[in-house]
Amino acid sequence: MKSAHFTMCKKLQFILAGTLSIPGISPRVDAHHHRVWLGAMELAMAMNLPLDEAMIFVSSAICHDIGKLIVDEKVLDKPGTLGEEEYIIVQNHPVWGADALSCMLPKHQASEEVCRIVLEHHERWDGKGYPAGLSESNIHPSARKLGVVDAYAAMVAPIEERPYNDPPKTHDQAISTLLECSGTQFDPKVVEVFAFLPPVTRISPLYTH
Ligand SMILES: [Fe+2]
Ligand SMILES: [Fe+2]
Repeated sequence: MKSAHFTMCKKLQFILAGTLSIPGISPRVDAHHHRVWLGAMELAMAMNLPLDEAMIFVSSAICHDIGKLIVDEKVLDKPGTLGEEEYIIVQNHPVWGADALSCMLPKHQASEEVCRIVLEHHERWDGKGYPAGLSESNIHPSARKLGVVDAYAAMVAPIEERPYNDPPKTHDQAISTLLECSGTQFDPKVVEVFAFLPPVTRISPLYTH
């Protein structure tokens, strides 16, 4: 018989899958959520995560940038470099996302974990991330995994999803960047697995939904 925790994780995944393609969300963020969701599933399988942990991780991936709904699309999709104020606004999206989810999800330990992972997905291994500047094991393990998948997905996103009109990185270039930033931006143990996934499990930059 499945545990109550498992059932709640399943419910969460169902609820959060419904946040994909929500009205008002930028098509670029929507495509990004789909790509990160796929990557999270691949990483969860490669790391052989326990089912409950995998479901919470994947649930967080589905909605991790939901706080960008609050950011003006003119800022979000602005070609070129953001101004200082605009950058601060964008940096608030993990806080806004976690707040929105904590109102929306049923009160449960699994929901709290999803909110925490969303809040911490831009923290860095070396403590130079945001919003809190957490480092290493102070960052939720799934937020550390999400950080790697998120960065990869952003690097290989096709040109039409890129606000800066810079060309996407190839898979090999993106993996090189992850390896270069392993131990500074990213948890080395996560990069070690993600970078060496067999080709069949890589996220295709050509993926469209
Ligand atoms: Fe984000
Ligand atoms: Fe993201």
